[in-house]
Amino acid sequence: MSLLEVRGLKVHFPITEGVLFERRIGAVQAVDGVDLDIERGETLGLVGESGCGKSTVSKAILRLVEPTAGSVSFDGHEVTRLGGEELRRLRRRMQMIFQDPYSSLDPRQSVGSILSEPIRTHNLERDGAKVEARVRELLEVVGLPGEAAGRFPHEFSGGQRQRIGIARALAVRPDLIIADEPVSALDVSIQAQVVNLLEELQEEFGLTYMVVAHDLAVVRHISDRIAVMYLGRIVEVASSDELYESPLHPYTIALLSAIPIPDPAVEVGRRRILLTGDLPSPADPPPGCRFHTRCPYRQPTRCHDEAPALRQLGTAHTVACHWAEDIKAGKLKPHEVPVEDTDALAAALAEQATTAPRAGRPRL
Ligand SMILES: Nc1ncnc2c1ncn2[C@@H]1O[C@H](COP(=O)(O)OP(=O)(O)O)[C@@H](O)[C@H]1O
Ligand code: SF4
Ligand SMILES: [Mg+2]
Repeated sequence: MSLLEVRGLKVHFPITEGVLFERRIGAVQAVDGVDLDIERGETLGLVGESGCGKSTVSKAILRLVEPTAGSVSFDGHEVTRLGGEELRRLRRRMQMIFQDPYSSLDPRQSVGSILSEPIRTHNLERDGAKVEARVRELLEVVGLPGEAAGRFPHEFSGGQRQRIGIARALAVRPDLIIADEPVSALDVSIQAQVVNLLEELQEEFGLTYMVVAHDLAVVRHISDRIAVMYLGRIVEVASSDELYESPLHPYTIALLSAIPIPDPAVEVGRRRILLTGDLPSPADPPPGCRFHTRCPYRQPTRCHDEAPALRQLGTAHTVACHWAEDIKAGKLKPHEVPVEDTDALAAALAEQATTAPRAGRPRL
């Protein structure tokens, strides 16, 4: 049994009209039928561009937002049906790390009090001296000095604040940590340090991770498997190596083709597949395959009117595309922007660069 099993998860946010008599006029289908498994001790990366529903999936797993439908089973317990004390006890075992460590830490609380609060709330230690010792231990584990306990969040750098956020998650000895864009707000030079820290902690404490990112480059090394999400659905799942070496879904293929390769000789001869257009609105998703409005491999049949199911193609590799076999066999080629069309390429890359976060990598 996997530690986490998510089946048919949907989160629809109602869109209402009217003040006195609120009428429901539609719904934002932020998450619309997601299946995921995470094995004990493994790291699952969840990637997709901004707005595709990654944070909503994360929060729904922890019941920080209420699922509209579907099931979330954690270590055999159905999270969607739990309430009160049972839910509180289960939540200790599932912790979340947020993108912006500053806004997720109470600025009026000292680091010592931020870290001791969850220890006391969950009755892990009662004795004051023991709580204090545990806080010092947690700080040491995340590479911060013991005297940090007496200081406040604003006295730390972004990377250090994320270490405090990690220590807070570890304080309650969780089994699963969901890290929602844990390094997206950090400078590139700091990102690797935080990712390495997460890896060391996983080893040391036998943790299971779901690491969310809009940047495939960030999750590559930390993830055992990667799930790619598009407009509320999972479109491809494979081991990290397999996904990078032989991506099957057109969306994944396009995302990977946009990551620059450090070797200029390879980079020059490479073909980039550019995604045109914006992510469609999850309040009015395209019919059929949700990716068809932007898909460089779109075909005249099936794509527009038949939703592709996630199906297995190869060992432990699943993909939701009607044409995956033909794409894999090289029978279908993308309608790509030719690399010779340098103006279009330059314009698209410039646009990616301006919308990219501080990391400077292409935004997915
Ligand atoms: N509380 C909410 N009410 C209405 N719409 C929401 C709410 N939270 C998220 N959304 C919408 O759901 C979609 C997915 O959002 P989110 O899960 O934050 O995506 P991601 O984390 O991948 O950027 C977006 O269109 C977003 O605007
Ligand atoms: S089903 Fe069609 S539109 Fe969807 S990803 Fe496959 S080729 Fe593209
Ligand atoms: Mg998010």
